[in-house]
Amino acid sequence: MRKILLISTALLCGFVLSACDAGQYETEKTGKMVEVSEAKIDSLIGLMTLDEKIGMIHASSSFTSGGVPRLGIPELVYSDGPHGVRHEHGRGWHALDGYDDRSTYLPVGINLASTWNRDLGYQFGEVLGKEAKDRSKDVLLGPGINIIRSPLNGRNFEYLSEDPFLTGKMAVGYVRGLQAQGVASCPKHYAANNQETDRHNIDVIISKRALHEIYFPAFRDVVVDGDAWSVMGAYNKINGQYTTHHEYLNNEVLKGKWGFDGVVVSDWASVKDTREALIYGTDIEMGTELLRDFDNPVYEEFYLANPAKEMIESGEIDEKYVDDKVRRILRLMYRSTALSDHGPGQRNVEEHQQVALEVAREGIVLLKNDGLLPLDKNEIQTIAVIGHNATRKYAERGGSSQVPALYEITPLEGIRNLVGDDVEIIYAEGYEPYYDESLFADITGDAASQSRENVREVELAQSANQELMEQAIEVAAQADAVIFVGGWIKGHEGMPWGQGTYDAEARDKLNLKLIFGQEELIQRINAVNENTAVVLMGGSNVEMENWLSDTPAYLHAWYPGMEGGTAIAEILFGKVNPSGRLPMTFANAHTDYPSHSIGEFPGDGTVDYAEDIFVGYRYFDTHDRDIFFPFGFGLSYTTFEFSDMSLFVHDDIVRVQATVKNTGDREGAEVVQVYVHHKNPSVERPIRELKGFEKVHLEAGESTMVEIELDDMAFSYFHPDQLEWVMEPGEYQVQVGTSSRDIKLMADLER
Ligand code: BGC
Repeated sequence: MRKILLISTALLCGFVLSACDAGQYETEKTGKMVEVSEAKIDSLIGLMTLDEKIGMIHASSSFTSGGVPRLGIPELVYSDGPHGVRHEHGRGWHALDGYDDRSTYLPVGINLASTWNRDLGYQFGEVLGKEAKDRSKDVLLGPGINIIRSPLNGRNFEYLSEDPFLTGKMAVGYVRGLQAQGVASCPKHYAANNQETDRHNIDVIISKRALHEIYFPAFRDVVVDGDAWSVMGAYNKINGQYTTHHEYLNNEVLKGKWGFDGVVVSDWASVKDTREALIYGTDIEMGTELLRDFDNPVYEEFYLANPAKEMIESGEIDEKYVDDKVRRILRLMYRSTALSDHGPGQRNVEEHQQVALEVAREGIVLLKNDGLLPLDKNEIQTIAVIGHNATRKYAERGGSSQVPALYEITPLEGIRNLVGDDVEIIYAEGYEPYYDESLFADITGDAASQSRENVREVELAQSANQELMEQAIEVAAQADAVIFVGGWIKGHEGMPWGQGTYDAEARDKLNLKLIFGQEELIQRINAVNENTAVVLMGGSNVEMENWLSDTPAYLHAWYPGMEGGTAIAEILFGKVNPSGRLPMTFANAHTDYPSHSIGEFPGDGTVDYAEDIFVGYRYFDTHDRDIFFPFGFGLSYTTFEFSDMSLFVHDDIVRVQATVKNTGDREGAEVVQVYVHHKNPSVERPIRELKGFEKVHLEAGESTMVEIELDDMAFSYFHPDQLEWVMEPGEYQVQVGTSSRDIKLMADLER
């Protein structure tokens, strides 16, 4: 699939859009022209009819928006998604059969965030850019940067963190790496899109302070620091208005305060009103909702198609609004490779698979280790690998983020590859996804909104398969060690539409209880074999109070991508020293989280974010609540010591220095985390907030001095009445630690 050829530039020089027109300066990375001649764009707009302009501001197929053939302006071509280029859809709504669309399946967003390694963020984006370009895509729909407000959100795996600073910094690398390849990023979903239940209509009731301190900063970072060329609006409303055409979000904040001159793309079918979309900043309407006939869609009926044209022609809305949208789209085209042959891309190369492996290695988090790990294959004759997730593949699952992976190494394969013939491996499934469909007989429809009904039935249906359990216990009892691989399931299979226990788009989980009898299974395995390591997958935690204390080792693997099985095995057997750190707090039940205990989730028509800015550790730490594993936490096979903290103030910058030493006997990586604490604030503030981090790799015995800079924003809060960021003069403490609950060094300062 390729777009209409450009009309000869020699023939129509000065009028036709062509790559030779672009440019005042070049990017450092690629040498590709990025700056745009605004005058050229204006003259081009001057040549367009209203119909042609309108054609550019809405979808022309499932993943394209319109071009202007007469002027050589091609369609813009999009692809999901955040962690790999999605299946080829052609112009229709279903993945094409027999198409060469295999791609690299990178670990999911929360896995990337768990690396706390900015360079990997850049490399992740770079891989996506090269692969998207290889398939002639102009816009890649990612990264997903919504804040993890509740552990139940079915899309948390696509997102990065409960913390805006970590989210923003990791996403900036991703955006830069991607765009350096000439492919536009489209960070999503702007904003406060934190649940899937009732996702098309839920109205988020939220303060401006919470928006600016928690839900906006990552978007600000990707726009201001990352130079994102587009941003995707969300489905939900905020305080009564749909976010995709929200006056405050788009016009005042994004395009106003942050100076965003790129394109606001709607989520698929998130536009709900022509007038609002015209004047409140939606630039392109994409979607599905108006497709009465999927095979013969009538794109002219979209809100930003004929209805928009009529409003302009009747004089109700000024044409300048349409011109502004077209101007932004043309800008994106100039900035990206949309106007060229895209240049050579690269796909499924070893280098990309290596990035997938590195992100998995650094993003899997070791949470508990009583000394069982790393396993020594020379001391083990038989290993029992137990659990459905040991063999399940996840690339083509979960909704729009699915990837047609070239291959995917499961944990069982990874373990087999690593131990070879040295160790006997016995596999038992232990549990299986099972639903008694008769319990769901009455449930129909696209009803994420119905997912709260029949909760009891869903829980009942998640029962254990006793036969598989008995087989697994027998196997476990005979083995020298057990590796249990379980947790959540990514995908929709088996579940009636609208019900949720999976990690999947368009639905949320019901609670954090281990599904399909896994809790009992782990307890029974622990009882027969004391050398049991538990590996869980999932876009969130699970309830741990009934199995963790008897479990010697626990590794949280998220969904670690096509090389995930390799990385899990390497960590279990010590070939790789784990260095992932949690990007979200692991409490026990979902009801412990502030979104549930103070605010609401998932609400009913409206959802009140009454916990306000106290999301994640900002709540758990400020109110000293019991949790299992804090934000920022993760174990290593070596040990680190922190010393010699100093603060240097130069004008508006505070430089934090500290020395980290690897005091163990093997190489490893530590994440130095800098938190800021305001000692006597005049308004309520979290006890500490992450404002800097650096991952350092150190050989055994090696030490290094880490330096992290804090600017005024690190000390500021969003004033609830003045509605501005304010740095309040006073006493602050800068804290250096290895998690939000393990502060190693601290120093006071006046600001
Ligand atoms: C999702 C987006 C996705 C789009 C296109 C929507 O339903 O919310 O994240 O990019 O579909 O597939």
